[in-house]
Amino acid sequence: MVNFYKYLKPLVFKTDPEKAHCLALKSIKHNCIFDYSIQEYMKSYFSQNICGIQFDSPVGLAAGFDKNGELTGKIHLNGFGFAEIGTITPFPQDGNEKPRMFRAIEDEGLINRLGFNNKGVDELILNVKKHSFQKKIPIGINIGPNKNSQNFIHDYEILIEKVYQNEDLFDYITINISSPNTAGLRDLQQIDNLKNLLSQVNQKIEKISSKKKLPIFLKISPDINDNDATDIAHLSIENKLSGLIISNTTIDKSHIFSQYKNEAGGLSGKPLFEKSTELLRQIYKQIGKKILLIGVGGISSGQDCIEKIKAGASLVQLYTGMVYHGLFLANKINKELIEIFQRDGIKHISQLHN
Ligand SMILES: Cc1cc2nc3c(=O)[nH]c(=O)nc-3n(C[C@H](O)[C@H](O)[C@H](O)COP(=O)(O)O)c2cc1C
Repeated sequence: MVNFYKYLKPLVFKTDPEKAHCLALKSIKHNCIFDYSIQEYMKSYFSQNICGIQFDSPVGLAAGFDKNGELTGKIHLNGFGFAEIGTITPFPQDGNEKPRMFRAIEDEGLINRLGFNNKGVDELILNVKKHSFQKKIPIGINIGPNKNSQNFIHDYEILIEKVYQNEDLFDYITINISSPNTAGLRDLQQIDNLKNLLSQVNQKIEKISSKKKLPIFLKISPDINDNDATDIAHLSIENKLSGLIISNTTIDKSHIFSQYKNEAGGLSGKPLFEKSTELLRQIYKQIGKKILLIGVGGISSGQDCIEKIKAGASLVQLYTGMVYHGLFLANKINKELIEIFQRDGIKHISQLHN
């Protein structure tokens, strides 16, 4: 498939980043073409059943791209093997003042301080319902509290209840405690706070007493130290979580060249790759395969995916790579992975794990 994005990119980069994002959402809704030529290879090389969910590609859409679940009937056409929608909050909210998204072009990074702008969980559920007949890949829902909430934990409980009322629409839930743009959110990563949160979440799920138990993943920040990360991983296992998503954006921008390096917000893309991969590697070293690990941060090629998988990830996600390499990046990565597998005689993705 010809990569038209290199011709389009100069034009896209003249557009305000948030406007460009809205155009990207529209374009996916209306003009997607899946590369069917690799479908059979994908099935044989990539097929994995994890937490009872079938994945035909390890490459997922990271949270924040489709905040309101508008693309769930279409996004598989871009090559994604699963998609995480949200972060969604109980009630709609506007997020921070604009401008709040900046391209760090020299670094292939993005800085954002959107602040969970979203239309609220009820609208997201309506959107996902509307497209459920077209759903072809697992859909995760990433949940977080409203900015002005008096009780963050109560917000997670409200959201879990809403998700369970519509449990057939979703394949997993991600508890986001790591976005840097909601004041106080990342304090939930402190071990006593997290203990409390996870125990409340489990009690809530027990009360709902649904036969189906949706896997719960926890998304963590790359800015925590290795010891805290290990404690969080152990606590997650004790509390029967199914996975850790490593990682959200970083607030450390000291190593980038961009004129925007002093803007407040979280940094994603290439400059996050090393840091998020190292955290993943450390957690995998400590806990091995006791919990699913999903690697996120700075992925823009098949080789990047291989590095995350070798560091311990069973699945990966991406967002910022699409800003620099186009909306069909997942398709391109699937192809690159197949080429690498064929070159190196790898028969199945599971062979990449130590
Ligand atoms: C503009 C933007 C908005 C984001 N919004 C969310 C969000 O709402 N919830 C979340 O968990 N992560 C959010 N993220 C973080 C991504 O899901 C991902 O963890 C991070 O960007 C690293 O991956 P990447 O380098 O491939 O972008 C956002 C990232 C960007 C760039």
